[in-house]
Amino acid sequence: MTRELGDVIPAPGEVRPDAAAFFTLDAGTAISAAPGTEHVAAYLADVLRPATGFDLPVGDNGAITLSLDAGLAAEAYRLEIATGGVRLTAGASAGLFNAVQTLRQLLPAEIYTGTPQQVAWTLPGGTIVDAPRFGYRGAMLDVARHFFTVAEVKAFIDAIVQFKINHLHLHLTDDQGWRIEIDAWPKLTAISGGDGTGVDGVGPGFYTKADYTEIVEYAAARFVTIVPEIDMPGHVNAAQVAYPELTADGVAPPQRTDVEVGYSSLVAGKDETYAFVADVLREVAALTPGPYVHIGGDEAQATTAEDYRTFIERVLPLVTAYGKSPIGWHEMATVDLPPSAVTQYWRIEAADDGTARAAATGGKVLMSPADRTYLDMKYTEDSPLGLDWAGVLGVEKAYGWDPAERLPGVGEESLLGVEAPLWSETLRSLDDVLTMTFPRLPAIAEIGWSPRETRDWESFRRRLAAFGPRWQHQSVAYHPSPEIAWPT
Ligand code: ACM
Repeated sequence: MTRELGDVIPAPGEVRPDAAAFFTLDAGTAISAAPGTEHVAAYLADVLRPATGFDLPVGDNGAITLSLDAGLAAEAYRLEIATGGVRLTAGASAGLFNAVQTLRQLLPAEIYTGTPQQVAWTLPGGTIVDAPRFGYRGAMLDVARHFFTVAEVKAFIDAIVQFKINHLHLHLTDDQGWRIEIDAWPKLTAISGGDGTGVDGVGPGFYTKADYTEIVEYAAARFVTIVPEIDMPGHVNAAQVAYPELTADGVAPPQRTDVEVGYSSLVAGKDETYAFVADVLREVAALTPGPYVHIGGDEAQATTAEDYRTFIERVLPLVTAYGKSPIGWHEMATVDLPPSAVTQYWRIEAADDGTARAAATGGKVLMSPADRTYLDMKYTEDSPLGLDWAGVLGVEKAYGWDPAERLPGVGEESLLGVEAPLWSETLRSLDDVLTMTFPRLPAIAEIGWSPRETRDWESFRRRLAAFGPRWQHQSVAYHPSPEIAWPT
């Protein structure tokens, strides 16, 4: 069955079907890559070969052509499907990669299988002209409460890029574990990345610097920016277990594997604190090509307001000194922020901790309200996985809000984008991660990408149903929410 041209998530900006045209891939189809497009052309061939069984050679002659057009923004693209061939044009490789994800969705669902299928690989005719609403469309994975391997993170990246998600925030440290190797402080991972760490003591592991770099490069090849988070001054019990000099009394606290929050704090008045933070931020910044380093800042209930301010005011300049823009959870915005700082808003109620004040002085805001974007919230009270402190989060609820209307004083021009965080207290496997992510992340992806006027729940619901078979074909676990009329 040939799909309709607009049958894509996130909804494209402009869709002009040509009912008289279609293009069918066959064993003779080749891909033509203009200079600068070879990387995405190779990716396109890689994702189409397993299911089609076709060679799909990449060269300078073929019915599928990739080229750049300086008149388009970097992430914007044009996809033209005519009977004679298919043309992908974009401002930069990132836009071509977006065009490829759209093209994949316009093929029969079997395109996502890993072995050759006997299917007519027909694309519907017409033109799509598309560009993102926001430059930052993110997901977050908590690898501290439960560690996920490099292979698992790569699989997660492959699943999320299909929805034009272009940032992956890794929550690398928390009370229950420390997951990134730091040369200057080796016990962080030797002790707090080892056996018995993680919630219930069942999520051990850490990334060596080589592992982390492998993730960064895999993500970059798919136009995803890794945003590393070192959470402080709270959420630091794992660091204090490894280095008791980071506590007020110099005594190591017990290792924690429960899910409490708000009990640990770095000491704002101690020099060791800043020596530690400087080393960690310097090493993490050096490993990270992307523009951001996230410093957490949330739920610092064990830090006095005065100490919190002292701490954040000393740490923010370290991030900028190492060449990065700081991101922090919205509590950080109680402090005067440098212009490059990004506030990540996660509140449930429309109260403000300074986010609007930061926006008023030109600061950018990343929208992650917990009641709409937290992928670890249960779908319903009966969900076996997840938490419910921000309420249950069905698909329609995840889809039915707008980031520019969430917080008075934080409008479209203040928004960097949207991010859907996934905390891992209840998660134990990649399948658990994917089950909580899909089908809700596509809702957040559409909010972050598509023009507001295209937002339509019935349309989204219908387009989302088509992903059931697509996820099955690529063995991506998902929650078969009864809100969606999945094909039988
Ligand atoms: C958070 O949910 N503590 C950012």
